[in-house]
Amino acid sequence: MPQRQWRSHFPQGSRRVVVTQELPGRRWLEMLRAAGCRVDVCRADSPLSAEEIRTAIGDRCDGVIGQVTETWGENEFRALRAAGGCAYSNYAVGYNNVDLAAATRLGIAVGNTPGVLTETTAELAAALALAAARRLGESERFLRAGKFRTWLPTLFLGTLFRGKTAGVVGAGRIGVAAARIFVEGFRMHLIYQDPRPQPALEERVRAFSGFLAAQGEPPVSCRRAETLEELLAASDLVSLHTPLTAETRHLIDARRLAAMKPDAVLVNTSRGPVIDEAALVEHCRRHPDFRAGLDVYEREPELAAGLADLENVVLLPHIGSASPEAREGMAILAAANVAARLLGHPAWNRPEIEAFLGEDPPPASPSLLNAAELGIARFGEA
Ligand code: GLV
Repeated sequence: MPQRQWRSHFPQGSRRVVVTQELPGRRWLEMLRAAGCRVDVCRADSPLSAEEIRTAIGDRCDGVIGQVTETWGENEFRALRAAGGCAYSNYAVGYNNVDLAAATRLGIAVGNTPGVLTETTAELAAALALAAARRLGESERFLRAGKFRTWLPTLFLGTLFRGKTAGVVGAGRIGVAAARIFVEGFRMHLIYQDPRPQPALEERVRAFSGFLAAQGEPPVSCRRAETLEELLAASDLVSLHTPLTAETRHLIDARRLAAMKPDAVLVNTSRGPVIDEAALVEHCRRHPDFRAGLDVYEREPELAAGLADLENVVLLPHIGSASPEAREGMAILAAANVAARLLGHPAWNRPEIEAFLGEDPPPASPSLLNAAELGIARFGEA
């Protein structure tokens, strides 16, 4: 087992919060201090194991901020409950690493960090889309290998997005933000798939199209796909923004890859297991004009055999939300989720979370996933 270093802040605090990784910024720590917490932070360079998590909780722990790289299941929540804890926040918007039902059964509130990482992640989806379409990884490797001798009319021809169609799978906050970049930045038509229609997004594309028409430029369109197959067949760029659930595991498998255009670009900034990675490797081998841009992997940090050998994929190490703005915002929301719960404050009841980033945050947990199930009052309704 690796040696772990811990740093304790505010040892005089009457409550104890465990944070399983160092987080950026100071505001989050101040929020926990103001809630009377001693804060024990692990300076880990690899994920804590289940045993290390239980040891860290010990026999006295009121709340935890944990990471997507850790498994938070029945045993971990049992240990937290037995140590007197009632609050856990994931330092992420996605929470597929958390057994929410087990936490709820044990009376532990679970938070996540939506809203603060939306634009950062959407920008990375756009960056990956361009990098894959315009073959940036391949061209950079070529140059660094000393192979760039002269400009050539045929050197690294890639895909032009303008006027083509972007397919956005999952139109939550990040999906909508990415869709706006594809439409308003790249001027692509949009097709999206989501269980719920997104009238605000559709209206925005209509208004943008009107603006383009007024400039004498070709319009753009937006429609909601009836089925994923319809979206895949129509799209030149497919960007995945679904949460990982039992239904979305291997959503993009061999059959669905075959349903895509042979020269399409596939981008994944959601969760790795949404794509059958072995099937993707096979597909990219057989279709050299198909391109993929991945930030997440099925068995992170491992890559499927053969993936890193492919020239037509661009691979990033799960950095979707990696801007100081997003990462400090995530720390603030995670700390506020835990601190407010320990103080018995209600749960926030609106999607807008900006108020928590200001000087005078509301006395509420910004994003609790099981507030209703646990009977936690909603802000302003107590
Ligand atoms: C990161 O992957 C997140 O879900 O926030």
